[in-house]
Amino acid sequence: MSRKPGMFLSLSTMSFTIWAAVILLMMISQAEAYDPLDPFGNITIKWDVVSWTPDGYVALVTMNNFQMYRHIMSPGWTLSWGWAKKEVIWSMVGAQTTEQGDCSKFKGNVPHCCKKNPTVVDLLPGVPYNQQIANCCKGGVVASWGQDPSSAVSSFQVSVGLAGTTNKTVKLPTNFTLLGPGPGYTCGPAKIVPSTVYLTPDRRRKTQALMTWNVTCTYSQVLVSKNPRCCVSFSSFYNDSITPCPTCSCGCQNKKDCIMSDSNKLKNVGINTPRKDNAPLLQCTHHMCPIRVHWHVKINYREYWRVKVAVTNFNYRMNYTQWTLVAQHPNLNNVTQVFSFDYKPLVPYQSINDTAMFYGMKFYNDLLMEAGPYGNVQTEILLKKDKDIFTLKQGWAFPRKIYFNGDECQLPPPDAYPILPNSAHKNLIFSFSILEGLMFLLFLVVV
Ligand SMILES: *[C@@H]1O[C@H](CO)[C@@H](O)[C@H](O)[C@H]1NC(C)=O
Ligand SMILES: *[C@@H]1O[C@H](CO)[C@@H](O)[C@H](O)[C@H]1NC(C)=O
Ligand SMILES: *[C@@H]1O[C@H](CO)[C@@H](O)[C@H](O)[C@H]1NC(C)=O
Ligand SMILES: *[C@@H]1O[C@H](CO)[C@@H](O)[C@H](O)[C@H]1NC(C)=O
Ligand SMILES: *[C@@H]1O[C@H](CO)[C@@H](O)[C@H](O)[C@H]1NC(C)=O
Ligand SMILES: *[C@@H]1O[C@H](CO)[C@@H](O)[C@H](O)[C@H]1NC(C)=O
Ligand SMILES: *[C@@H]1O[C@H](CO)[C@@H](O)[C@H](O)[C@H]1NC(C)=O
Ligand SMILES: *[C@@H]1O[C@H](CO)[C@@H](O)[C@H](O)[C@H]1NC(C)=O
Repeated sequence: MSRKPGMFLSLSTMSFTIWAAVILLMMISQAEAYDPLDPFGNITIKWDVVSWTPDGYVALVTMNNFQMYRHIMSPGWTLSWGWAKKEVIWSMVGAQTTEQGDCSKFKGNVPHCCKKNPTVVDLLPGVPYNQQIANCCKGGVVASWGQDPSSAVSSFQVSVGLAGTTNKTVKLPTNFTLLGPGPGYTCGPAKIVPSTVYLTPDRRRKTQALMTWNVTCTYSQVLVSKNPRCCVSFSSFYNDSITPCPTCSCGCQNKKDCIMSDSNKLKNVGINTPRKDNAPLLQCTHHMCPIRVHWHVKINYREYWRVKVAVTNFNYRMNYTQWTLVAQHPNLNNVTQVFSFDYKPLVPYQSINDTAMFYGMKFYNDLLMEAGPYGNVQTEILLKKDKDIFTLKQGWAFPRKIYFNGDECQLPPPDAYPILPNSAHKNLIFSFSILEGLMFLLFLVVV
């Protein structure tokens, strides 16, 4: 059997295409395993053994949120783990377990919790002073590192019994699970690390923990839901048409439960009452997202250009406190002024400076109110043009990525962007998407 030259050629082109597609897919799946805009972001839970007791130890547990723009919002974190042996929790300060479990074996002194897999939550603000320690009692709410490092921490103290009483006999807890407040985090195993060193309040003496172990938890959006939780729409001064969020951006499975904005149901008391499970009650839209971010290219000056960004809440049951917005655009390295939002450049890789984080000003718009007339916040951003790269063509003026509260939002497809009148560039974008489609088809057929 002899192979025709033409066939050989097409086969090698094909395998090249497959190879390219595989690399592309690998890049995509890798991008989902961690956050490219915050590659080192994590929540670290540190256990410092501060004293040994006759039957165990007392540990100070500190949770640090090292994520730049993903915070833990109300109703707060839930942390659970599995004990390695038959440990019990005698008492806790600054937090509590949700269940005591079966402590019937104990006479006299009854432990706080006897469960093999205790589940711990923060206390609410305003508990008596003798139940508090530093950084506790915030209802489990933890700020993001980028927004407020001093509030990006939560602590509690736990007194463990029926446990090892030396650093050789202690068994580390296993199977850490963090809800923040919903799913999304995956925690690694506890690892013994160098003991934490403390400075006394007068800063003249150092003390140190008897033993320290760390647990690191990272976030992955795919664990939360298969659909995005926000979407982006576009408009511009040079084209009257608005590019809406793609239809069903956030999945249309809740469509039957949504409420029309002119409905009489809105007059019901209780419609804005949050649910324990945080289930949303959405205003009916074609995108069915709780959050929409609108990016409007407003003015083109000689040296500068101006963008208006509005974030709208469509969830009747949610006030977003300490919200964050992250945008990636090549011109965000030359931000001149940001109006009515706080702003911070994010530089995850030293060489690339195209990402910015925005958040509300304290007591002004750091609360994004429930759906309705007040359910939006907005800003204008003034950017200095880099004349070598600035253009209004080919949708360059629109963001490459938008995140709200650390979740990536659904962007419109490239061929739907507002285009400059009389531009021939639409065809370019179009043929590119055809190429991509072909590549994907080939990939499907062959594998
Ligand atoms: C967690 O975040 C901190 C701060 O960014 C970083 O120093 C540390 O390396 C991270 N840990 C892991 C395991 O990624
Ligand atoms: C352990 O966690 C603390 C923060 O809670 C962090 O400062 C420290 O660097 C971590 N140690 C290691 C070895 O990851
Ligand atoms: C790990 O934790 C989960 C949930 O807390 C529990 O269902 C599971 O049985 C635990 N596994 C082990 C080995 O402890
Ligand atoms: C345990 O304690 C001994 C001294 O009591 C110390 O030398 C050793 O480094 C400690 N080990 C750990 C893992 O902390
Ligand atoms: C949002 O906050 C306002 C004012 O603090 C409050 O009246 C309203 O009930 C809250 N709505 C929800 C859904 O929590
Ligand atoms: C990144 O861009 C911002 C906004 O112009 C600027 O303030 C910041 O200094 C830049 N950072 C680096 C590392 O270039
Ligand atoms: C934009 O910012 C970069 C560094 O962030 C700087 O090198 C460049 O000169 C700036 N461009 C203008 C037009 O200011
Ligand atoms: C505005 O953009 C849309 C595509 O988003 C395009 O169909 C329309 O022709 C543009 N309008 C003008 C006046 O060019």
